[in-house]
Amino acid sequence: MRSYRIVLLKGDGIGPEIVTQAALVLQKAGEKFGFGVEFEEALLGGCAIDAVGTPFPQETVEKCKAADATLLGAVGGPKWDSLPGEKRPEAGLLGIRKALGLYANLRPSMIFPQLRSASPLKDSVIGTGLNIMIVRELTGGIYFGERGRKQVDGAEAAYDTEMYTVPEIERIARVGFETARKRKKKLCSVDKANVLESSRLWRKTVERIGKEEYPDVELSHLYVDNCSMQLVRDPKQFDVIVTSNMFGDILSDEASMISGSIGMLPSASLGNGTNGLYEPVHGSAPDIAGTGMANPLATILSAAMMLRISFGEAEAADAVENAVSTALETVRTPDIWTEGIRKVGCEEMGKTVCSFL
Ligand code: NAD
Ligand code: IPM
Ligand code: MN
Repeated sequence: MRSYRIVLLKGDGIGPEIVTQAALVLQKAGEKFGFGVEFEEALLGGCAIDAVGTPFPQETVEKCKAADATLLGAVGGPKWDSLPGEKRPEAGLLGIRKALGLYANLRPSMIFPQLRSASPLKDSVIGTGLNIMIVRELTGGIYFGERGRKQVDGAEAAYDTEMYTVPEIERIARVGFETARKRKKKLCSVDKANVLESSRLWRKTVERIGKEEYPDVELSHLYVDNCSMQLVRDPKQFDVIVTSNMFGDILSDEASMISGSIGMLPSASLGNGTNGLYEPVHGSAPDIAGTGMANPLATILSAAMMLRISFGEAEAADAVENAVSTALETVRTPDIWTEGIRKVGCEEMGKTVCSFL
């Protein structure tokens, strides 16, 4: 029987609760579709700091490299907020993305018909639906540029640097174009080329790759401030968006809310091979951690992306997505709850998805 090795990085806050449910869903999918799943846990983030003194243990990198894919909950929390940058839990997450070469982060934002009323947007704005894929560059830009502190005119100052090389832009542009090619063949590249030099190089490079390699894909450009406005004015206009690390971080949280809750938005972080890191877009939600009320669906949908992209188990992935859709008819976690539907916690939501699988 074919079998997949999956590393679970439960992380902090609600991380362990949501990953536990997603792992059960993967197990159930395996039973139903005839493949095995072997789980191995590893430490990343705050839990790793507490256990071994670093947010990014080398052992974790080795385990992830040796596995077929990795599922992450979330890292971070107030307990570790006063640590210096490179010792924070978030440094572990940036470290693992970089170490595994995961430069492309796919963040699909779609609205399940059942959740139309959970979206803050009017029915007329949502129209017949919403299905946007944000392709976020993940291992470059201001997240990884030079940063530091210095004295300027006798005052303390801090700086972070946004820098992109042409090859970095080319490879993420290709992911954007390839993704668009499989969808509606519309790619919108988002930058701040009216101000930033790095964005001017970004735009020029994306433009060239489009002309040379993807003449069949309709390419447009938007400044990031306009894009964030357009996302709530008329989200239907977008198919695939390709953008830098920081702009993608911000726009994907905005896009998640359009779909009803950040607790619904999955993601896949990919490099050149099939091994990937699957992570919900949201964080460790310290305000609800331990209450048992977190929405596990973003993580479960991330597991579905893993089945589809890393394992080629399209049928199982479809089944998980359908089970999520059916579960939404009967139960909801508080973040997406509405009158007339039973309110449940993380565990029961996970169980319900498994029962519909
Ligand atoms: P957050 O995404 O953790 O929470 C924002 C809001 O959304 C909170 O009110 C939270 O309760 C709610 N929320 C998030 N996920 C939810 C879910 N599954 N179900 C229901 N409600 C949910 O963002 P934040 O508060 O800005 O960050 C908290 C910590 O998480 C920080 O330490 C941050 O660095 C970290 N973080 C980690 C990741 C990651 O590991 N991938 C991503 C984002 C933030
Ligand atoms: C995300 C998170 C991370 C990011 C943080 C926690 C490092 O916000 O995955 O969206 O900014 O990439
Ligand atoms: Mn984010």
